Amino acid sequence: MGFATDAIHVGQEPDPATGSIVPPIYQTSTYVQEALGKNKGFDYARTNHPNRKGLERCLAKLEGGTASYVFSSGMAAIDSIFRLTRPGDHIIISEAVYGGVVRLTTQLLVQFGQEFSFANTSDLDAFQKALKPNTKMVYVETPTNPTMMVTDIAAVAKIARARNIIVVVDNTFMSPYLQQPIALGAHIVVHSMTKYLNGHSDCTAGVAVLTRAEDAERIYFLQRSAGAGLAPMDCWLVARGIKTLAVRMKQHDANGMAIAQWLEKHPKVKRVFYPGLASHPQHDVAKRQQKGFGAMLSFQLGSLEAARRLLDNVKLCALAESLGGVETLISHPALMTHASVPPEMRQRIGITDDLVRLSVGIEDVEDLIADLDHALSKV
Ligand SMILES: Cc1ncc(COP(=O)(O)O)c(C=O)c1O
Repeated sequence: MGFATDAIHVGQEPDPATGSIVPPIYQTSTYVQEALGKNKGFDYARTNHPNRKGLERCLAKLEGGTASYVFSSGMAAIDSIFRLTRPGDHIIISEAVYGGVVRLTTQLLVQFGQEFSFANTSDLDAFQKALKPNTKMVYVETPTNPTMMVTDIAAVAKIARARNIIVVVDNTFMSPYLQQPIALGAHIVVHSMTKYLNGHSDCTAGVAVLTRAEDAERIYFLQRSAGAGLAPMDCWLVARGIKTLAVRMKQHDANGMAIAQWLEKHPKVKRVFYPGLASHPQHDVAKRQQKGFGAMLSFQLGSLEAARRLLDNVKLCALAESLGGVETLISHPALMTHASVPPEMRQRIGITDDLVRLSVGIEDVEDLIADLDHALSKV
């Protein structure tokens, strides 16, 4: 079946007990056993429940994996992936990665004996220079949040696979509709489903999609043992969001391109970072490995004061963290999402004080342009 058909039907079969076209929310913590050791497939909601099972089947299918496990946030899913490594292992992470990943690895996981280093995975020479004899995992975010750097997934996977290194890709910015990392050579895909997969900004959620039985077994062990699995109501919300993923992404993609092109021509905008523009340094890679360019972009305005004036004057674009919902959100990465990244690292990867990030929603694009035009006139 096609992507949109799978997104609507896999794991979302009508309820066998009542015929309800939408699977009900199994809002229960425990399941009555018919006899000692005999149940209907579920015993306790931390371990598993029908809403989780259905959603996990759908996500494995959409990303081309063999199994998936859903968590209470993107960070919980990412944390479980790093726990596949052991003390003494070295892990390479895209240096322009989401700030929460920098915080998790350098301030928490490092205490358990793994070694983390950050490299520009968009530059294959820099990636190869970062490799060590004990490198066991490469964690790629592409495009990166918020500088939109693109990594050639197939090229990194080829180098890594030759050395038995696990390749993980954070596919949050693209969604499986626009990018399929497993088909390009990744072993594991992670998402903050808080973003495009849910699409409606009404819960936090994450997923790890696996391709190897040993990884799947370990992640399921972590999910049920550490207890960060996604709750029934949140699984239901994400499953509902996924049904419209294909149509939403088409509109996000169209609006993202229209706004990026408009901003690039605006005299008050210094530079726009959007992989769909010919001016983007990895435009060709993006064109090759993505089905579209999505709706995340960032742009520089020349000073913190100019950025502040823009943020103070938008009305339709909402000043808020997060991204990937139907509504347009605008943010200031240096002071918001990436405040936990050390200032020298922010500077190196281009998260400057004049940088503004836009998560373009699916409103009428003329209304978004009018709002930005008005706010830019105050800069
Ligand atoms: C690319 C990316 N990965 C992971 C995360 C973390 O996800 P969550 O906020 O759902 O924990 C985020 C959050 O913004 C993100 O942008």
